[in-house]
Amino acid sequence: MSKQYDFIKACWCQPVDRVPVWLMRQAGRYLQCYKDVRAQGGGTFLDLCKDPARAAEVTIQPIDILDVDAAIMFSDILTPIEPMGMALDFVPGPVFEKPIRTAADVEALILPDDMALAVPYVPAIIKRLRIAFEGRVPLIGFGGAPFTLACYMVEGKGSKDFAELKKMMYSDFPLYDALMQKITEMDRRYLNMQIDAGAQTIQIFDTWGGLLAPHDFERYILPYAKQLINGLKRDGIPVIYFVKGGGGMLELVKEAGADVIGLDWHVNLGKARDILGDKIAVQGNLDPTVLYAPKPYIEQEVQRILNENADRPGFIFNLGHGILPTVPPENAIHMVECVHRLSQK
Ligand code: CP3
Repeated sequence: MSKQYDFIKACWCQPVDRVPVWLMRQAGRYLQCYKDVRAQGGGTFLDLCKDPARAAEVTIQPIDILDVDAAIMFSDILTPIEPMGMALDFVPGPVFEKPIRTAADVEALILPDDMALAVPYVPAIIKRLRIAFEGRVPLIGFGGAPFTLACYMVEGKGSKDFAELKKMMYSDFPLYDALMQKITEMDRRYLNMQIDAGAQTIQIFDTWGGLLAPHDFERYILPYAKQLINGLKRDGIPVIYFVKGGGGMLELVKEAGADVIGLDWHVNLGKARDILGDKIAVQGNLDPTVLYAPKPYIEQEVQRILNENADRPGFIFNLGHGILPTVPPENAIHMVECVHRLSQK
């Protein structure tokens, strides 16, 4: 018998007694206890991702501290790219030693048959966390969307506009398509492996999807996102699709077929719900910098978002992007407490 978690019920647009809440990037540097575990052994960020005992520990920290309604396994969207044959470093932003630029580069990318063997530490952390959490909170697995992964693989590092990928996309579509097909298939195997290992929800991060105009999103992102989501073992497993900057093209984002749409703070949540209709859940969308505001201001902002949702079922409170590393933890605790108290029926 699996417990009926409010978070999962909200993903399926079922009624709940109070709005569930979690924070993107809830395990991380704003918590001193994260920095302590990260420093143990003097290893790198990737070493932490690859150590299931320590990675599980930092996943659990925000559950104990913040009282959130879901856990997200500790890892990074780029960890499954390493076994495709691309050496990866974090400084702290990600850097690929040899970015993808040519047909030979795409050809040379490895597509592992068994992702559980390619990144054994991922199913190991999921199994550990399911045992640690049983009956307490559901576990979210995640991956990068094909486009966002391609941004880093082609640029080789973070960027404001990811011009290298856009150059490839506009000037050599067959090459772009070959790369995206390979990434999409890796992603499908990777996320299904997480479901097999015990992930109870999957979130797909399309952090850079909002870089494209709506008609380009439709042509260069949507077919792959749709193919990926269609290929997931979704029987009872909700899929969340978060497109940062997607607020102006929600009809297209919806077409990808996810059960829940993640929203950033550039869109009014009520208007987004009107566009998306009542069969699809939403997650969001507090500006992460509001967590620097005084506590009464945070409470007002939580109330404003709850008002925009207007009691509609299918709502998960979250930030509109990841929590920032210099946020005082007590403000994040306060935000979660406000969501629970102000939404309690
Ligand atoms: O949400 C969680 O608590 C789980 C952990 C998680 C991390 N990265 C840990 C991390 C998740 C879900 C991610 C996703 C991720 N990683 C995304 C998509 C979400 C988003 O924020 O847009 C992206 C684009 C990445 C790539 C990435 N990883 C970048 C750009 C950086 C550097 C920027 C930064 O935050 O420092 C990372 C490093 C990273 N990933 C850290 C953490 C805790 C910091 C590394 C450290 O501890 O030194």
